Amino acid sequence: MKPDFVIIAVDGGAASGKSSTSRLVAERLNLMHVDTGSHYRAVTFALLQKGVGPDDEAAVAERLKSIPLSTELDGRSARIALDGRVPTKDELRSEAVNNAVSPYAAVPAVRQFLFDYQRAQADIARENNFTGLIMEGRDIGSVIFPDATLRVFLEADAATRAERRAAEGQSDSIEKRDKIDSSRKTAPLTCPDGAYKIDNSNLTLEEVVEEIANAVSNCV
Ligand code: C5P
Repeated sequence: MKPDFVIIAVDGGAASGKSSTSRLVAERLNLMHVDTGSHYRAVTFALLQKGVGPDDEAAVAERLKSIPLSTELDGRSARIALDGRVPTKDELRSEAVNNAVSPYAAVPAVRQFLFDYQRAQADIARENNFTGLIMEGRDIGSVIFPDATLRVFLEADAATRAERRAAEGQSDSIEKRDKIDSSRKTAPLTCPDGAYKIDNSNLTLEEVVEEIANAVSNCV
């Protein structure tokens, strides 16, 4: 039976093309787009401001209790708001956040804090009459939506990923983040069994979008 609501999980390492691909697939298939990297970045930004380090899990858990989360729709993109405010792009992509986000994302209390919020994004997409949800991150197909209609894992070679970040004018420790993200105990970055793997090093964005759209139509 054709599902009335589609969920696409997109995982992959830093600069593997998740965001550009997910945004275009969202447009093509009328999906709400959620970038969960921005959730971890937002929480990192808040915890850095409060001066709580990732090594003190009890203090992190305590601080998180005082951060109310909500969601604001910006076109098709659902943005996380902390205490009623959506952090700016500069706040989320600063060098300080780039360097600190993976250690914070490895803290189980941080992942637990975001789990229900991320699952609930499907309800927001339904309430806003989207045909479905495309959510990108590191553990979407393995932990958040293992029941997704389609689970995609994106890869690209190291040179291509470094070029992408350079083209965005960003200084980002891609390999360092991937290493921490892949080796953490809770919800490590991994290609889940049965996921549709795409190496996009030599593909255009349009080709990747086409491949995902075809794969979705084979699933529904
Ligand atoms: O996707 P982006 O590179 O913005 O993600 C920033 C960081 O957030 C990742 O390096 C990772 O540590 C963390 N993250 C995660 N799980 C997700 C999404 C992001 O641990 N689902």
